[in-house]
Amino acid sequence: MKIVIMAGGKGNRFWPRSVEGKPKQFLALTSEETMLQLTYRRFAERLPAGDIYVVTAERYRALVMEQLPELDESNLICEPDQRDTGPCVALTAQRFLRLGEDDVLVTMPSDHHIPHIGELFDVLRKAEPIAARDRTIVTLGITPTRPETNYGYIEAAADVSFDAAHRVRSFIEKPDIDKARRLLKTPNVYWNSGIFIWKPSTIAHYMRQHQPDMWNALQGSEEEVRTAYADLPKLSVDYAILEKAEHIYNIPVRFEWDDLGSWTSLERIREADADGNIVHGDVYATESKGSIIFAEDRRTVVIGASDLIIVSTAEGLLVCHKSQEHAIKSMVQRLEQHE
Ligand code: GDD
Ligand code: MG
Repeated sequence: MKIVIMAGGKGNRFWPRSVEGKPKQFLALTSEETMLQLTYRRFAERLPAGDIYVVTAERYRALVMEQLPELDESNLICEPDQRDTGPCVALTAQRFLRLGEDDVLVTMPSDHHIPHIGELFDVLRKAEPIAARDRTIVTLGITPTRPETNYGYIEAAADVSFDAAHRVRSFIEKPDIDKARRLLKTPNVYWNSGIFIWKPSTIAHYMRQHQPDMWNALQGSEEEVRTAYADLPKLSVDYAILEKAEHIYNIPVRFEWDDLGSWTSLERIREADADGNIVHGDVYATESKGSIIFAEDRRTVVIGASDLIIVSTAEGLLVCHKSQEHAIKSMVQRLEQHE
């Protein structure tokens, strides 16, 4: 079993802490260590370093090596460009297959809060023999607690106990709120943890079948792949493969898990002060409740401002009502277009 940590996402929703040059996986959000360091080091305690890989975009190569000096550079897979997780997973599979390697891979996001990785590890050991079968994908399902629209949903065929596998009937990536509400009431539905267990040959099989253009673009020489990569569509692996594949098994899991996808997700992880504020840096808040206040670069005083996200960094200043958080991503994309 090899671990492949995906660390090439953009994380616009954490602007202005997360910026294009330093997205959220490279930030310390839950502790002193960055999300990437936490993910890597938790696996490194249990597996030989040679079995842990990081896949990222070329532009983050130096940042990854700076944050993980213990990583052997030959275990760093670099994508020529950022085209989302579909091309990232295809390129990874391609790289192992070229070396004649087809061991089971655990494709692991780097933006997850999993404090008890021992429990994840036990489940991965159960998933490994299932994923060793041809054309078989294993997902890990989290019991949903809210109609979250930022996650994928797994609809399983039958009830099963925790840590056992059942077949997946359908996979629904990021439903709208009405569908998410319906799914929450449907039996045997789980959140997709975003952790996939599969062989490189399984990825190749589904890529050939469902994304033949993408797969073919990755077949040429290194130089040809480099040129073709930038023209690939930005497509996540969930849309590219998971929604379409036939042989998916899900293992319901119960370890503590969270995807730190946005500022308000920190409320689920970090402890609030007596007024319900989450505060970081040189901050003085009064008559303010339920706000998230991060001040990285200057003393910040907040008076009578409740339910706001206030973030000040050298990059910029964000003042956003918590209910409008979904708009941060598109605002930042607009800013990038104007630059
Ligand atoms: N190398 C590389 N290249 N990594 C990438 C790229 C890329 O182009 N794009 C994203 N990543 C990394 C991110 O850094 C993150 O660690 C991981 O891949 C997942 O990407 P996200 O962008 O965070 O995905 P998501 O959270 O919106 O959705 C996925 O995860 C959810 C659970 O966390 C989906 O799989 C959902 O179905 C799932 O519920
Ligand atoms: Mg995520």
